[in-house]
Amino acid sequence: MLTIPVDRCTQLRLLEMSHAQAMFRLVASNRDHLRPWLPWVDRMRVESDAENYILRSLGRFSAGTEAHFGIWFREMLAGSITVERIDAWNRVAEIGYWLGKEFVGKGIMRRSAAALIDYLIEKRAINRIEIRCTPANISSQAIPLSLGFRMEGTLREAAYLKGRFHDHLLFAITAEEWKRRKQGEEETQCLPAGGPSELPGR
Ligand SMILES: CC(C)(COP(=O)(O)OP(=O)(O)OC[C@H]1O[C@@H](n2cnc3c(N)ncnc32)[C@H](O)[C@@H]1OP(=O)(O)O)[C@@H](O)C(=O)NCCC(=O)NCCS
Repeated sequence: MLTIPVDRCTQLRLLEMSHAQAMFRLVASNRDHLRPWLPWVDRMRVESDAENYILRSLGRFSAGTEAHFGIWFREMLAGSITVERIDAWNRVAEIGYWLGKEFVGKGIMRRSAAALIDYLIEKRAINRIEIRCTPANISSQAIPLSLGFRMEGTLREAAYLKGRFHDHLLFAITAEEWKRRKQGEEETQCLPAGGPSELPGR
């Protein structure tokens, strides 16, 4: 099983058939929370829909075009983070995500997305990572913004949801920007208590 560690309490595990029941139950108990943003929620009606979804996702993982992970928080399935599109030729990947409502507001998604980005850049040689979301989805936009992505523009009427077309905001970060950002964070953590002015030679 492919597992990506996130922190002491959280792991990303590639979805497998044994996760179908937990996935179905989490979606079924979060329909109202997820429906405004995710078109597939009401298509997962019975447990076998979750099995079929996981089977398809495993096929696409084998083909190298997608990777669907469950987010496990204290050994409970909390949600999912997905590499929805891997363009191996251009080394571009797109990420999507959701959490059950009881797991929202704990920083789980921000940390999970950061761990997945590390994996994509370090293990899959991806150079550009994209996240798309509707302008109304403020909680979703907060994830790329808090991770240093740039908002590059609006994809007009890029999504069809609840009988009408919606714009998408396109956020992206490159491998170089991600590495620079991480290096900056590490250097900040090493600064003496008084800040840069206390460094030798200043
Ligand atoms: C999108 C979603 C996963 C975000 O979950 P979350 O629990 O807010 O994520 P995190 O706790 O990791 O938050 C990330 C950051 O955004 C901030 N944030 C979250 N919601 C915010 C809001 N409405 N306004 C401002 N900041 C917000 C958090 O404070 C956090 O910042 P911090 O780490 O500096 O504290 C969750 O709201 C969800 O599942 N929504 C329904 C499905 C969905 O919309 N999926 C995305 C479709 S594009």
